[in-house]
Amino acid sequence: MATTTVSLQRTARFYDSTIGKKAVMAITGLMLFGFVLIHLLGNLQLFLPLDASGRYPIDIYAEKLQHLGGLLWIARGILLGAVILHIWSSISLARTQMKARPTGYSKKDNAHSSYASRTMWISGPIIACFLIYHLLHFTGGQVHPDFQPGNVYHNVVRGFQQWPAALFYIVGMLLLGGHLEHGFWSLFQSLGVSHPRYTPILKMGAKAFATLIVVGNISMPVSVLLGIVK
Ligand code: HEM
Repeated sequence: MATTTVSLQRTARFYDSTIGKKAVMAITGLMLFGFVLIHLLGNLQLFLPLDASGRYPIDIYAEKLQHLGGLLWIARGILLGAVILHIWSSISLARTQMKARPTGYSKKDNAHSSYASRTMWISGPIIACFLIYHLLHFTGGQVHPDFQPGNVYHNVVRGFQQWPAALFYIVGMLLLGGHLEHGFWSLFQSLGVSHPRYTPILKMGAKAFATLIVVGNISMPVSVLLGIVK
């Protein structure tokens, strides 16, 4: 009992430190990267034709996920926990930074920070808004023009046939790309992988990963708008 209390106190102290918060941001960020990548790979099945049984592969995939039952809810719980901790650590770190420098910079020096890094505080909340809209669009169907539960192919195509929705996704994905690129790069720094020798490789890796996610995700609304997927 006493050992558990001591280790809980240690965990709380670690989280309270700046290093702890950065580590939490990095680890939860890594989990969210994993989700975004797996989600994209699953969604790209939108481009696959009807199978021999006359069903769309993306519908079969969604059905299989639903059949995971309890496991799916555990995964959703972990994901939600990661999102909450990620947002919480970012707010907490921002507060610490503001307290440390209450008067602000006399002159802002942007020369060494990228556009994406300077806009992390804007892209983060917009991505959170995107996520809420996205869940109401494709999971709950509350903001969808013709939502049919379980009929994912239909829901995605019909959803993107409305150009304002498709445009919102495209803009959201571009912001997500900037956020992912900077996040990918800074998570390695937070985890202590910041040798100058690795810097160019990590920066290239971050760009490549973000580009893959953005192009992959944007290809879906664009293909529907162009009538390639219908
Ligand atoms: C064009 C890009 C995207 C498409 C076409 C898409 C499609 C979908 C669809 C169809 C669902 C519902 C699946 C079902 O009911 O079985 C869904 C759920 C979801 N999407 Fe996306 N998505 C996209 C991008 C994203 C991005 C970038 C994120 C995260 C930032 C995301 C996060 C989620 C989450 C958290 C769920 C709920 C998963 C669950 O219910 O377990 N999606 N998406």
